[in-house]
Amino acid sequence: MSRPAILVARYVLPELLERLSQHFEVESNQADQPLPQPELIDRLQGKRGVFVTASERIDAGLLDACPDLRAVCTMAVGYNNIDVAACTARGILVSNTPDVLTESTADFGFALMLAAARRITESERFLREGRWTHCTYTLMNGVDVYGRTLGIFGMGRIGQAIARRGALGFGMKVIYHNRNRLSPDIEATLGARWVDKDTLLREADHLLLVVPYSPTVHHAIGAGEFARMKPTATLTNIARGGVVDDAALVGALRAGRIAAAALDVYEGEPKLNPGLLEVPNVVLTPHIASATAATRKAMADLAAENLIAALTGGTPPTPVPSS
Ligand code: DGY
Repeated sequence: MSRPAILVARYVLPELLERLSQHFEVESNQADQPLPQPELIDRLQGKRGVFVTASERIDAGLLDACPDLRAVCTMAVGYNNIDVAACTARGILVSNTPDVLTESTADFGFALMLAAARRITESERFLREGRWTHCTYTLMNGVDVYGRTLGIFGMGRIGQAIARRGALGFGMKVIYHNRNRLSPDIEATLGARWVDKDTLLREADHLLLVVPYSPTVHHAIGAGEFARMKPTATLTNIARGGVVDDAALVGALRAGRIAAAALDVYEGEPKLNPGLLEVPNVVLTPHIASATAATRKAMADLAAENLIAALTGGTPPTPVPSS
């Protein structure tokens, strides 16, 4: 029997391609440039499975044009780029890569929050530009992290990993807002308290966003929310672009409505709201929260395991719930 054909839509380590080749006829895009949609559709003709990242858009139009597809396996925990309902309706399995990236992503979220609070990237730019002539009382004064209130919006695995860092490592009081409240046991272990969104906004000294993107959280943080935050607060977004109204954020940073922000994700990325490049008190990184060599490998391996299981009669380890 001929082996199923798959497309690996982005770069993976050669040894992983080798492993996939033991099961499939593999076409790959090792050049790693995102494929324009028509080319993606073209290259998916006759393919039973596709290995994607958070950048490829798998929507109903693409699925209709690629009727042989049976598995869409993303190397990401977030899957808002995939129309899961449309996949389910066509009997296509969707999988993601939870767990393996939790700690690296939590480290990065915490690092961004520290960088915003302590003005680390702003200070480095100041120094590199040769503007440091002497120390002064107010030079790059930031806001404290240790012992302050950490607010977490979205309390899944990554939110909980960030809560542990805040409570155990930084003596922070942890409050969170999530659609589902954690069990009292988990809350007690994390030292975290559920609060309504308004309390989260008003009490957090450092607000971290880790909520999965869905239309219900589109612009969950905008002008109205900034107005309720402390002027000394920081905001960190490692969730998805669109959770924050980036234009409103630029306005809030310019007006001093909040002290600083740190973003790893953007509305319409890789394009940025140009205002973000003009305000000094925002730390900007290019969607790399899970980017360590070990974690990327673990994510790619898990996506491949899902693909192999899905197309060879096995049980994919991490399917996303069908909708
Ligand atoms: C994820 O895994 O969802 C990260 O944002 C990387 O894309």
